[in-house]
Amino acid sequence: MSEILSSWNEFSQALASCATEADVFNLKASYLGKEGTLNKILKDLKNLDPEDRARLGQEANGLKQRITEALDQRLDEIERLKVDTLLKEDRIDVTYRASMRDLGLNEAAYHPLTRIERDVEDLFFSMGFDILDGTYIEDDYHNFSALNIPPEHPARDTQDTFWFKDGVHCLRTQTSPVQIRGMEQYKPPFKFVSLGKVFRNENIDASHEMAFHQIEAMVVDKDISVGHMMHFLESLISKTLRSDVTVRLRTGYFPFVEPGFELDIQCQICHGEGCTVCKDLGWVEFCGCGLVHPKVLKEGGIDSTEWSGFAFGIGWDRLAMMRYGISDIRQMHGADLRFIKQFKSY
Ligand code: DAH
Repeated sequence: MSEILSSWNEFSQALASCATEADVFNLKASYLGKEGTLNKILKDLKNLDPEDRARLGQEANGLKQRITEALDQRLDEIERLKVDTLLKEDRIDVTYRASMRDLGLNEAAYHPLTRIERDVEDLFFSMGFDILDGTYIEDDYHNFSALNIPPEHPARDTQDTFWFKDGVHCLRTQTSPVQIRGMEQYKPPFKFVSLGKVFRNENIDASHEMAFHQIEAMVVDKDISVGHMMHFLESLISKTLRSDVTVRLRTGYFPFVEPGFELDIQCQICHGEGCTVCKDLGWVEFCGCGLVHPKVLKEGGIDSTEWSGFAFGIGWDRLAMMRYGISDIRQMHGADLRFIKQFKSY
């Protein structure tokens, strides 16, 4: 067998066992590289007589061409194989019916806050409220000044604010700025509700978190009274908690309402006995509320001699804690599935 033929046979066998592109390139180097088989054959040509040299030279060039083509072909094959495997692995069975649980759509997978959010949105939607979103980053005007909390007002101190370096923007400390944003957007009469996260530099304990949640509602119409406000709050309490929850209303100071109130509910963890959540008081603040201050209406471009309104802000986490008997607010952001899975039967 000529040297050329045996080289080709050897090469073909080696090529057939090349599984990866790297194998092919290594084989290429050992045949066509500087120290490769083909160069060795060509180097040996000089020892042959001119006739054999010409013939073998031609055969060697033919071999080089065949090797080059075979290598390219093998590379193509390997590429195609790779694509085929990828396609097979990636194939999506569009007829596959995923279980609700896999998708996280199973009722059992809902976070307590989400469950309350749906109830609250359902209730308010059925009462004709719009549902508004606010922004986490607010400015001084919307978070404070427009809500009748000017600079130097002591009410600012009660809300340990995370300020940005510009001294103008902050992480909103309450959902009340949505009242201002709503008034910028609507002409009276209107009613809307907004649910979202708020931030305060709090000392963290069983009932305080740095990031927590509030529900804000605002109604502006003609001749609005505290009676209207109480009707809404009672509906909300009976929808989200049991209706036999004992509540108490006491006067409270919030600069953006006049008169202002705080509505407390009997602690549902200890049923009034006293615990860490209610700080042994037996009562938990459910919401701040009141009739919208004329200055706030004016800031929203609304004539307070013609229109009046009420607003309330609810601690959404506390509401969830009371509804589900959760004794530590830190669980809300704990990202612990064992915690969420406990709410299967609710
Ligand atoms: N924004 C108040 C807070 O975070 C709660 C509040 C009180 C909201 C009275 C209201 C209200 O809308 O009328 O403490």
